[in-house]
Amino acid sequence: MICLFGNQKGGVGKSTLTVLSGNYLSLAKGWPVTVIDMDYQQSISQKYEKAKVLENEEPYEVLPANLETFPILHQVVSGKKDAVLIDLPGKLDDDGLIPVFQSADLLICPFSYDEFTFESTVLFTVVLKKVNPKVEVVFIPNRIKANVKFEIMSEVNEQLSRFGRITPVIPDRIDFQRLTTFQTPLSLHPLITPVFEEIFADRLWKK
Ligand SMILES: Nc1ncnc2c1ncn2[C@@H]1O[C@H](COP(=O)(O)OP(=O)(O)O)[C@@H](O)[C@H]1O
Ligand SMILES: [Mg+2]
Repeated sequence: MICLFGNQKGGVGKSTLTVLSGNYLSLAKGWPVTVIDMDYQQSISQKYEKAKVLENEEPYEVLPANLETFPILHQVVSGKKDAVLIDLPGKLDDDGLIPVFQSADLLICPFSYDEFTFESTVLFTVVLKKVNPKVEVVFIPNRIKANVKFEIMSEVNEQLSRFGRITPVIPDRIDFQRLTTFQTPLSLHPLITPVFEEIFADRLWKK
């Protein structure tokens, strides 16, 4: 299974959800995982290198990559039965993305309920689906504050549901800062487990 974490919008939680998914699948579910870090900031790779210094055994590998190196990396990982989780850069204007988009079985697309995020979310999804019509799309409302308006939520959900499923909401919480590539803070488990169970339960075991 190749799973992209993408949205054209920055700061919606692509890198965070990649790490949370990696931790969930490997540590909680015992599934082999490879993370491919294609974010320009390489935030996951940096976290991973730091964590490796402090701990002994890494639960999964994090491979830094860019659009040029992806095709070779894809050949390597597609021979394995790992869940391959790809943290994407927040852009759409590079032909190098085409093989990445084509490789995907699933898009996990974090978003929040504001106008600019909505536009980027739809644009990203439309472009991905054009390149790869068979990809499944799951939207995760992330960093959601308690005061978000119900009318806006239902309007946005209705629009997005034309492209894919929408999971339960992940709230805005300070403890996301304590996330590492080796450990998800215990206080976050009740928030994220229902979301990941819904996404991964019947998907993983196919491939
Ligand atoms: N649910 C959340 N609650 C609070 N902070 C969050 C949440 N999800 C992500 N963050 C924080 O938001 C910032 C942006 O997240 P990040 O995953 O780097 O976004 P992206 O990769 O889409 O640019 C990070 O500081 C991250 O810790
Ligand atoms: Mg990122």
